[in-house]
Amino acid sequence: MNSIPQSVVALTGAGISAESGISTFRAADGLWENHPVVEVATPEGFDCNPPLVYEFYNQRRRQLLSDEIKPNPAHTALAKFEHEFNGSFLLVTQNVDNLHERAGSQNLLHMHGELLKMRCLNSEMVYDLRQDLNLDSECKCCRSPGNLRPHIVWFGEMPFHMNEINTALEACDIFIAIGTSGNVYPASGFYQKARIRKATTVELNLEATDSSFDEHIYGPASKVVPAYFEQLLRPSS
Ligand code: APR
Repeated sequence: MNSIPQSVVALTGAGISAESGISTFRAADGLWENHPVVEVATPEGFDCNPPLVYEFYNQRRRQLLSDEIKPNPAHTALAKFEHEFNGSFLLVTQNVDNLHERAGSQNLLHMHGELLKMRCLNSEMVYDLRQDLNLDSECKCCRSPGNLRPHIVWFGEMPFHMNEINTALEACDIFIAIGTSGNVYPASGFYQKARIRKATTVELNLEATDSSFDEHIYGPASKVVPAYFEQLLRPSS
């Protein structure tokens, strides 16, 4: 696309945070390599062994809150684009880290939940969370222990914000997927939904995936994301 678009939707995955020091899921040394998905990322796993699930997310949360983890130039470029772009821009992330908001993104939807939030199993109330969670953690609304879970969408559960995301996908001129392997539905089908209204679909990723976007740009997110979004704002004539 050579003209400035009116409406842009970007989807991010674990690849955008890899250069910030957070492991992706499906790499050889990725998170799912050492942690069976059914045990730590399903409602059944949580029912079966809540301490294991709490500890898996406690470790991820402690890492996220450590001084080493910071937004990288790809997160910053998306926030800058949102700030400077005159059209509509929605950023959807599958990531549960807070690096987009720390970089300054505002119109942001966490479709798979947030590591720094917990939810009451009774009331569905959502609370901020910076400490470890365990079976003794007391719920703020019920005032009883054992009622809290990580505010994370597990396999078999419905992602958040789907109505808003679908509306934006159906209206966008460009859909850009960044650092996601395209293995997990429904995010893996977003580019096809965006195409229904003839949006241009673009993949920015370290390496090829199985998805057939209109354009593929390969390289580390910290390099390709700033370059791509800069030319979107200021296309050379
Ligand atoms: N720059 C760009 N892309 C990268 C980089 C990088 N520096 N490093 C890795 N990648 C790419 C990988 O090549 C891979 O295609 O990021 C992608 C990461 O894929 P996954 O590990 O499968 O992560 P993601 O697609 O976000 O997973 C989706 O699956 O496990 C669930 O809920 C979890 O949100 C997650 C969802």
